[in-house]
Amino acid sequence: MQSREGLHVAIIMDGNGRWAMRRGLPRIAGHRAGAAAVRRVVERALDLGIARLTLYAFSSDNWSRPPAEVQSIFWLLRAFLRLEAEKLRERGVRLRVIGRRDRLSNPVLKEIDRAESATAAGSNLHLCIAIDYSSRDAIARAAAQVTATLASSKVPSPDEIRPLLAQSLTMEHGEVDLLIRTGGEKRLSDFLLWESAYAELLFTDRMWPEFDETDLTVALEEFRSRERRFGGVPAATLQSVISTA
Ligand code: FPP
Repeated sequence: MQSREGLHVAIIMDGNGRWAMRRGLPRIAGHRAGAAAVRRVVERALDLGIARLTLYAFSSDNWSRPPAEVQSIFWLLRAFLRLEAEKLRERGVRLRVIGRRDRLSNPVLKEIDRAESATAAGSNLHLCIAIDYSSRDAIARAAAQVTATLASSKVPSPDEIRPLLAQSLTMEHGEVDLLIRTGGEKRLSDFLLWESAYAELLFTDRMWPEFDETDLTVALEEFRSRERRFGGVPAATLQSVISTA
């Protein structure tokens, strides 16, 4: 079972640095190979009929990395946006960037605007790239925005605020159905925390640069083999309860 809007896969692309170091290469070589993996996975996502794909490209905590590495990641992101926008448009991909924009450089902002405008009409795949993204920050901002629009002097109740918060947070990309993390670690790292409340989690030891089309296909097969209960009971149990009632 997937969301009403179609299957939403989100990926924490981890392991670029380790992939490079194991080959005696600089970490940036891992990010470069990671960008190539992004291209492969977007192509396969289109073939597999995935409706939404959200990729964690740069977390707000990644600013603490050495400046040269941060610069290289942004160089790759800009290159991706500049070089891929036309191809994405032709393939019917709508690209959107989520995350803070106030700390991004003007050249990066310009490429984001260009790529988003060029691909705005795409309807085959909604590709969301998270840049300077923190889920806690997104939740805090949505809460501030929602309370401001309530324009009431009384403190809103949780029941009042929850649907507004949900709407604000999932407006751009919706709930996550399948969350994949490559690189062997098993954590969420401040990624789509609200949106992944009922996501199926899949952790793989594969380093992101080596994640390929087959890995995505296999991940989807694993997702489809799981029973999603959303806090309910297994379908078989429900059936037996109904038939014995
Ligand atoms: C995590 O691996 C990866 C990143 C912080 C950067 C991700 C960037 C890309 C894949 C390249 C450009 C992206 C797009 C969308 C074109 P890590 O460096 O933390 O790896 P490690 O855990 O092995 O050190």
